[in-house]
Amino acid sequence: MCGIIGISSNKSVSATIINSLKKLEYRGYDSAGLATVHNGMINEIKSEGRVDSLEKNFDLKNLEGNIGIGHVRWATHGVPNSINAHPHSSHNVSVVHNGIIENSTSLKKFLVNKGHTFKSQTDTEVIVHLITENLKITDLEEAITNTLKQLQGSFALGIIFKDIPNLIVGARRGSPLAVGYGPNENYLGSDSYALKSMTNKVTYLDDGEFCIIKKDQVLFFNEQGIKVNKKIFELSSEESSYDKGHYKHFMAKEIEEQPNTIKSGIKEYVDNFNKDINIFNFPWKIEEIKSIILIGCGTAYHSCLMAKYWFEELTNIDVGIDIASEFRYRKNRFKKDTLYIFVSQSGETADTYAALDICNKNNMKTCSVVNVIESSIARDSNFVLPIHCGPEIGVASTKAFLGQILVLYIFILKLSSLRNEINKNQYHKKINDLKTLPELIEKTLLHDNEIQAISSTFNEAKGSMFLGRGFSYPIALEGALKLKELSYVHAEGYPAGEMKHGPLALIEKGMPVVVLAPKDNYYKKTISNMQEVIARGAKVLLITNKSEDEVISENIWETIEVENTNHDLLPFLLTIPLQKLAYYSALKKGYDIDKPRNLAKSVTVE
Ligand code: AGP
Repeated sequence: MCGIIGISSNKSVSATIINSLKKLEYRGYDSAGLATVHNGMINEIKSEGRVDSLEKNFDLKNLEGNIGIGHVRWATHGVPNSINAHPHSSHNVSVVHNGIIENSTSLKKFLVNKGHTFKSQTDTEVIVHLITENLKITDLEEAITNTLKQLQGSFALGIIFKDIPNLIVGARRGSPLAVGYGPNENYLGSDSYALKSMTNKVTYLDDGEFCIIKKDQVLFFNEQGIKVNKKIFELSSEESSYDKGHYKHFMAKEIEEQPNTIKSGIKEYVDNFNKDINIFNFPWKIEEIKSIILIGCGTAYHSCLMAKYWFEELTNIDVGIDIASEFRYRKNRFKKDTLYIFVSQSGETADTYAALDICNKNNMKTCSVVNVIESSIARDSNFVLPIHCGPEIGVASTKAFLGQILVLYIFILKLSSLRNEINKNQYHKKINDLKTLPELIEKTLLHDNEIQAISSTFNEAKGSMFLGRGFSYPIALEGALKLKELSYVHAEGYPAGEMKHGPLALIEKGMPVVVLAPKDNYYKKTISNMQEVIARGAKVLLITNKSEDEVISENIWETIEVENTNHDLLPFLLTIPLQKLAYYSALKKGYDIDKPRNLAKSVTVE
């Protein structure tokens, strides 16, 4: 969950490193720092808080040097403060790290016995002293190779050296790391986002590899220290910008972008002329797939759950879902005719990547649904379904969630058609309905003032419930997660039918309860669950869809009616008011909406 940047150049690097770190803050932002090598010295500055605190606390003009590394931190070992901030340096080595060193305690004991002194509480500092120790007895490449062998756990590293002032070493195991190529300079970065503003040519390190980056040369080595050749990728030139435009927050921009991102997703896969769906280069015959398991974390897991309902509705395929951090430790029974689908916006989530790695090691069929096509999960899947939403910067996922469920729905429609589980007319009708989705979302986004007006009720309550059945249940979970992660108040998504098995005891007078009750097959049952909570004093926000039926109104605090459409598509529309509810609740509390406390955009550690 940290961000790394390194630059080896023919000119001063500190200002460029600072600018790159600002782009990396979505990966972590409780402390930041950088170090350069200049005139035979390692110059290091670091502080608690955001990157701009570095600019406030230090005069960057004095931080000279054509070689440098920088870091934004999300704390795993050691509280966020200037001592635990990276880089960590000895007299001749400076290191930035993303990951967790699992044998840091034993290594620290060994190094203290060798006379090394430690300043921080971090696991990272052992790497600094281990390299320093190994450099006493051998050359650079061997010292790096030996050091990496002694480390257990995960790392992406950037390393500079007082006595070798013309290069940076990068190393990767389990945390993403990329190299970028520029004119008279080369770069090291946690991911392509970090490098995109400086170059569109990148190489990704694979686990166990390290690299030596000079301003005019980059060398790659495997874990035995043997040189290897690596492919250079051209980054997609998605025009989505990194600025917020006229919006106050990236999240607000990304919510409002959804009609366009859904449009680009449909354009990518739907063939309007032939009224068909194109999933190009799908590597398997349909009959080779007898079951499907979808895996993800957080919002991506909710996308998996949403897909399960559509799979059950539109196909006879046996479908399972799992949370990646559970799957990776489960005693899984692998069957060769199972397709594993990994859903991940960033494509770098450690638990999801570990689950993918286990499936790859068991020669399973793997497919990923990602937003970052250059990501580790995308690169290591047999097949990729990109969601084409453009960079999602707000930590709370919005457009990527809709993009994920759109691509999954399109994929399911196609499978259903290929397996003859949907007739041609139904298939064409659903494709036509899909094309109306951007406009329906546009209209749903207009529900704004009424949501702003009620959002403070959720802030003042000690907790809230989000209830739904069937297709609405994954959306209830997603709405509760949005409110939790943005306004730091407890909110629980729950199957409406389950309330009577315990959680009904939570309901007390004035407690806000969101009830998702579109007029689908579950409507009547959900309305009766709603009346159970109203009878116990709950303030119900009913979210349903417009129809000729009268809308139940007695004792309901507020009702929001989204546009009516094919029931398959209602989950897209039900999600929008919940995204806005979370946004306005957090706005009223004055919280940092794009960077909520304790969270980061890409959870690249366990
Ligand atoms: C969603 O709002 C959260 N930021 C979080 O749950 C996120 O969905 C989860 O960490 C998975 O991230 P990924 O999609 O990049 O794998």
